[in-house]
Amino acid sequence: MAQNLLCGIDVGSSKMSCIIARVSEEEPTPRVMGFSSVPSRGVKRGQIVDINQVSSSLEQAIEQAERMAGAKVTSAFASVGGPHIESINSQGVVAVSHPDVEISDDDVSRVIDAAKAISLSSTREVIEVSPREYIVDGQGGIKNPLGMSGVRLEVNTHIITASMTNLKNLERCMSDLGIEIRGYVFSGLSSALATMSETEKELGAVLVDLGGGKIDIAVYIEGALTHSSSIPIGARHITNDIAVGLRVSLDSAEHIKLMLSDSAKLKYLKDKKDDVDISGLRLKEGLNSFSYKTVVDGIIRPRLEEMFEQVLVALDTNECMNLVPSGLIITGGGALSVGALEIAKRVIGLPARIGAPQHITGLTDEVMYPQYACVAGLLLYAKDTDASEKQLNVKDFDRILRNISMKGSVKKVRDLFKNFVP
Ligand SMILES: Nc1ncnc2c1ncn2[C@@H]1O[C@H](COP(=O)(O)OP(=O)(O)OP(=O)(O)O)[C@@H](O)[C@H]1O
Ligand SMILES: [Mg+2]
Repeated sequence: MAQNLLCGIDVGSSKMSCIIARVSEEEPTPRVMGFSSVPSRGVKRGQIVDINQVSSSLEQAIEQAERMAGAKVTSAFASVGGPHIESINSQGVVAVSHPDVEISDDDVSRVIDAAKAISLSSTREVIEVSPREYIVDGQGGIKNPLGMSGVRLEVNTHIITASMTNLKNLERCMSDLGIEIRGYVFSGLSSALATMSETEKELGAVLVDLGGGKIDIAVYIEGALTHSSSIPIGARHITNDIAVGLRVSLDSAEHIKLMLSDSAKLKYLKDKKDDVDISGLRLKEGLNSFSYKTVVDGIIRPRLEEMFEQVLVALDTNECMNLVPSGLIITGGGALSVGALEIAKRVIGLPARIGAPQHITGLTDEVMYPQYACVAGLLLYAKDTDASEKQLNVKDFDRILRNISMKGSVKKVRDLFKNFVP
């Protein structure tokens, strides 16, 4: 049974996670074998600000996951996000090479290359080119033009770019650890792969990954990724606000924040009036209780409203609001904040649900939480990349064989080659 090892590394502002999984032809759903998540240091709003700190956090996360999986990681897909992410929709057009036969993958590669030819500053790099639709001789809405006949082939693509400095810094951290980066994946796209259903993407929906230091947005319209961006504000700001409001340390504020989103625990700690008993947290500031209304309605709610107002601005600016009837899929650790779902629905005026990772199996008990949507999605991205690379290899070889025209022996050699492709 040919097996393939996949690895995803999420470089977050609050935590770094590493996930290792296997896929095989018999079991195409990634089977998680190793996972770990450690507190992140050296990353602010998705950007690397201290290479040494990032390297040491990454080393810890990768080592723990490797130990659990009993396998060594040599290459991985890594997440990138933050305000340095930009996206644009671009078109390409080419004449089909052999209009008398059919549209070939060579035509498809050429038209995508044409769409990729955007003017880009020397400090930016394209990390994603996602075809939204192909148009053959004026007929649009085509998902896969291969094998069709036509003269003129057009494509509408969604292109994501990132700051080259950030990518280079990440590459350095990984290469110091002996890991080759197979691809940089926008964290919003990765979270979308793990949490959204095909129906949601088809009808139109928005992925909102509310992380510690940033909010990633990925908009799907008619099944295709249409807008990506990242806002430099995150759930860590809620912790800061609580710390300032209650005059406690950031650690204590984080404890209070997490406790407030645990509704089962809160039932016992909140009295009939308004006071929440936190004597059990033994905070070093000696705070034993606080007013629920003051913290939830007075501190957390306004910050969450501000965050979703910014999401609304991003959706409005990019004219997406009327095209996403399936609403919001909110993920990332901040999705668990008390009242997040209700505030999102009210501010944006669309349906909303919390998204947790799906489409993976194996040791997933620890992974099935919104904050791990991004790292889980990297496995799905890796799987799709492997599948398309494999398909390309087979097709390339097919073409070579066709060109050298070996007649009867072609099929035998082709079959032999397919046996060697893992
Ligand atoms: N149960 C919870 N209730 C409320 N907030 C939570 C909960 N669990 C995690 N968080 C918050 O989520 C944030 C971390 O989210 P996440 O792990 O998605 O961030 P990250 O991926 O490291 O950061 P980013 O994506 O911004 O780079 C922290 O601010 C944390 O306090
Ligand atoms: Mg994140």
